[in-house]
Amino acid sequence: MIRLGIIGTGRIAKRFVPEARTIDNIEITVVCNPHIESAHRFAEENNISEYIGDIQNIIGKADAVYIATPHETHYAYAKLLLSNGIHVLCEKPMTFSEREARELFQIAKEKECILMEGIKTAYCPGFQQILEFAKSGRIGEIHDVEACFTRLYSSNTREIWNQRYGGSFTEFGTYTLLPIVKLLGKNNRQGFVWSLPCITGVDAYTKNIIEYEDAVATIKTGLGVKSEGQLIIAGTKGYILVPSPWWLTRKIEIHYEDSNNVEYYDAVFEGQGLRYEIGVFVEKILGLRIMNWNEVMNQMIGVTPSESIWMAKQMEDFLAHRTEWKQPYLDKKKMKIWGHRGCSMGYPENTLSAFRAAAELEGIAGIELDVQLTKDGEVVVIHDERVDRTTNGTGAVIDYTLNEIQKLTIQGKDGQIEYIPTLREVLELMKPFCLERGEKINIELKNSVVRYEGMEQKVLDIVDESGLGDYVLYSSFLHESMGLIKELCPAAQTGILAVSIHDCLKGAEKYHADALHPCVKALDILKGEYHVPVRAWGGDEPLFGQNVELKEKNMERYQVFGVTEIITNVPELYLN
Ligand code: G3P
Ligand code: CA
Repeated sequence: MIRLGIIGTGRIAKRFVPEARTIDNIEITVVCNPHIESAHRFAEENNISEYIGDIQNIIGKADAVYIATPHETHYAYAKLLLSNGIHVLCEKPMTFSEREARELFQIAKEKECILMEGIKTAYCPGFQQILEFAKSGRIGEIHDVEACFTRLYSSNTREIWNQRYGGSFTEFGTYTLLPIVKLLGKNNRQGFVWSLPCITGVDAYTKNIIEYEDAVATIKTGLGVKSEGQLIIAGTKGYILVPSPWWLTRKIEIHYEDSNNVEYYDAVFEGQGLRYEIGVFVEKILGLRIMNWNEVMNQMIGVTPSESIWMAKQMEDFLAHRTEWKQPYLDKKKMKIWGHRGCSMGYPENTLSAFRAAAELEGIAGIELDVQLTKDGEVVVIHDERVDRTTNGTGAVIDYTLNEIQKLTIQGKDGQIEYIPTLREVLELMKPFCLERGEKINIELKNSVVRYEGMEQKVLDIVDESGLGDYVLYSSFLHESMGLIKELCPAAQTGILAVSIHDCLKGAEKYHADALHPCVKALDILKGEYHVPVRAWGGDEPLFGQNVELKEKNMERYQVFGVTEIITNVPELYLN
């Protein structure tokens, strides 16, 4: 039984576990993540007996390791493991330089360890079938290979904001290089690369033309531009078409001059497709018991060492070209910080304690809060249309009178009991902070689910009565409501709330709003300036009492996409 460790606990590692459990002779014994909490959670969710935070501790606990960490960490981890005699299956791209790839294979050889690059397509039966068809001569001599892989990513993903190693080519390029190196070889000439840069400097889309003596290859990769994910291998007698998604090969077509003559083939593809590479990995490790390293590695189905080295060289050349692009400068001091529902990680959201804690923070721009209406038409500060999630009560806000709703309790910090405040109470609390420190209040009208009639006028009246009109700004997911606020009070400052910044722009234009309030997940990755305040929210930060990992200051980086202010559950973190 081979003891298998996993380093990294992201998307791919999650898919890997059930696939590995379909293979004989291995057992997952340990999972590692420097974020020990993540390792713990992963071990529990996936029924793995041990979790560790320090990779050094994997030595002695695993005979083989699957590396599924961010790309730029692969080389160092693989080197450490191989040097300690541990077999390595490394996610693609294995390294970003030819020298590093060569070095890893050299260590693997010296230590008699298996080192394999985990490009899952390479080991799948369907891909083997493509290669057999291509090499059988039925489409004649091959002169052109075109491979495309695109997948649209959200603006808050590492693939987009990691300015050094993110981008479409580093993410998907290895897949597309695979059929090219298999069919046209490694003797390519200098190619032509065209990329569309994201505002972060990484490529949203890349078209790469690779020249050979008597052939050409085209790669298309995109995470901000979508195209057809197909593979076409063109020969002198016909062509092979592998329809999208070609990298999960299930169908293969062979076409000829006569368009009526098309051969269709189905390929076996089980589960998520990772089981094939894991199967080969195990087979190779066991093979070392009866054969030497050269024999085992030279009979590789999938990616050979020299192919991995060639692909690393292509990555290296690409990154060298990309560093010429101008990296935007982040002026973090200019970011304005808002307390989302107050300091809602440290205190229950939308309570007086949460607002006081936020207002007391030195340098805070203001607080954000949500309002709903009670049965008797009072404006209360609560996020949901129902009281169930945040209080000890049940039912809809609209079914409670103010008197009834204020009797409900909220479990606060250190056993303190809180309650749902009225908008008046919050404005009263905030008044000295507004007048003396210039802090602002963002009132979000929660009227897109329940369309509370007359809510806009009520809120405006309460603000007017408080004398804080100059310190308030309004926002809503219901854009027409912001139009109405402007009609009722032309001096009112409004912001359009939507998930995507494109929807914010549309709403702002239609209702003459003063600001955009988009989610950090749907910013425009190609644009970095808007000339109006862009207050972004949605950083997946924990709320009070929630068991969610706080990713350190992960919202500041969206400044490159034109975000000027952030609405966060943890303003204390950003203002520190
Ligand atoms: O105003 C930004 C943000 O609060 C919008 O989403 O659901 O937290 O109110 P939500
Ligand atoms: Ca809100």
